[in-house]
Amino acid sequence: MKRYNISLIKGDGIGPEIVDEAVKVLDTVAGACSFTLDYKEYLMGGIAIDETGVPLPTETVEGVLKSDACLFGAIGGEKWDTLPRDLRPETGLLKFREEMGVYANLRPAIVYDELVNASTLKPEVIEGCDIMVVRELIGGIYFGQPRANDGQKAYNTMVYTKPEIERIGKQAFEFAMKRDKRVCSVDKANVLEVSQLWRDTMEEIAKDYPAVELTHMYVDNAAMQLVRNPKQFDVIVTGNIFGDILSDTASMVVGSIGLLPSASTGDKTAIYEPIHGSAPDIAGQGIANPIATIESAAMMLRYSLGEVEAASKIETAIRNVLKDGYRTKDLAAYDAKEVVTTAEMGDIIANYIK
Ligand code: NAD
Ligand code: IPM
Ligand code: MN
Repeated sequence: MKRYNISLIKGDGIGPEIVDEAVKVLDTVAGACSFTLDYKEYLMGGIAIDETGVPLPTETVEGVLKSDACLFGAIGGEKWDTLPRDLRPETGLLKFREEMGVYANLRPAIVYDELVNASTLKPEVIEGCDIMVVRELIGGIYFGQPRANDGQKAYNTMVYTKPEIERIGKQAFEFAMKRDKRVCSVDKANVLEVSQLWRDTMEEIAKDYPAVELTHMYVDNAAMQLVRNPKQFDVIVTGNIFGDILSDTASMVVGSIGLLPSASTGDKTAIYEPIHGSAPDIAGQGIANPIATIESAAMMLRYSLGEVEAASKIETAIRNVLKDGYRTKDLAAYDAKEVVTTAEMGDIIANYIK
């Protein structure tokens, strides 16, 4: 029987609640598909600060590097917001992504027919929407030097090198080849030099993909177009901060931020993480939607472990659960037959796996 080593990082807030449900579903599908998952837990974020004094212990990086894939919940919370920046949970996450070299963050935003009434947007605007946001994850303004804040003046630097743009651009075009063959590159080239290099480089890459249509859009317009007519997009490729913002926007096209998974990939172990945060406002109440994390686990099976059938089983189970009207509180207002807790949602999805 095949065995895989999975590293788990539960993190803070709702992190442990949602990762536990994903593990429940993973174990069920592993049984159904005859493979075994061996888990090892690692610390990151606020809990790591509390237990070890730093947000990213070296054991976490070493352990994850040795594993086949990493499933990550979320980190952060008010308790750690006043720490010096290099000790904050978020800094731990950014260092982690950098150490793992996960430059491509794939954030699919797919509107399921079963949830077409769940969005705050009109059904006809979103029906059939299927967007892949390809977000650059270890560069741009998040990582650029210099950066400082002396209390009177503060600055960050948005920087991309051509090779950094090339590698994320290629990923986007490769995805487009397997999809509707359209890439929309989002930038702010009317203002920023870094965006001009981004745009020029995307044009160069496009020459190697004549079957793919490349368009460019300014980020302010893209934010507007995502809610005006999201179906116009196939693959969106963009830098770190724009991708962060646009994917949260895209989640409301789908219905809830609790539904959007992601894969953070590079040349080493990949990280699978919901796009949302630790949701301190609802932590510990058993009302968080675990589906984004369960979908992330399905992406892990598909992309890192090659267990495609198992991934499909999870995705089908989620759709059937939604079709039958089970909803966590975030989606309770829409077509809900039964409002369930985080743990009940995990149980129900696991029970629907055939
Ligand atoms: P958030 O994504 O945690 O929450 C935003 C809103 O969405 C909240 O109202 C929350 O209750 C809701 N929400 C999020 N996930 C949900 C789910 N699964 N089910 C139902 N509702 C959900 O963003 P925030 O409030 O801006 O940030 C909270 C903390 O999380 C901060 O410390 C932030 O830095 C951190 N954060 C971490 C990550 C990560 O670990 N990848 C991502 C984003 C934010
Ligand atoms: C995300 C988060 C992170 C980001 C933060 C917590 C560093 O918002 O995963 O989307 O901005 O990348
Ligand atoms: Mn974000």
